Amino acid sequence: MTNVESPTNVEAKAEPVLDQTQASAEDVNGTAQFLAPVVIAMQALALNGKQAHWHVRGENFIAVHKLLDKVVDHAREYADLAAERTVALGLPIDARVETIAAKNPLPPMKDGFQNYGQIIEQVVADIDAAVKVVRDAVEGLDDIDLSSQDVAIEIERGLVEDRWFLSAHLATD
Ligand SMILES: [Fe+2]
Repeated sequence: MTNVESPTNVEAKAEPVLDQTQASAEDVNGTAQFLAPVVIAMQALALNGKQAHWHVRGENFIAVHKLLDKVVDHAREYADLAAERTVALGLPIDARVETIAAKNPLPPMKDGFQNYGQIIEQVVADIDAAVKVVRDAVEGLDDIDLSSQDVAIEIERGLVEDRWFLSAHLATD
């Protein structure tokens, strides 16, 4: 026999590390409840952002192609921020590919090459769906943990800026 626990056992035993944070189990669990969907949304946005980065075409190709990589970089940073806040409080995070697929809050993205305007519309719709998840976290964390709420606020601010940079390409005047 070895002492190696199966993933199922590890998950079942996961408990907040209370002496690490001085936070109550209720608050730590509440924080995880709101930050877990943020992690899922950010990982999903990173995936769709790369899909868009590879398939954008049209006269604004270079600008949009490069900008989409920024969106991907930011989404990955935000996933890391929200995940590591949860882990720092002593709880695990489930960002396995099957979990992201099952809980993805973003609308479906069209397959294949597309003109930059169509691609931008879809990534903006993705960002809008992600911002909704993040704003739910901002609101929900207000009574639970202000440092975790600060994480969500930072992510919301960054997403809205990326949305602006992308959607500005669609302006006609
Ligand atoms: Fe690339």
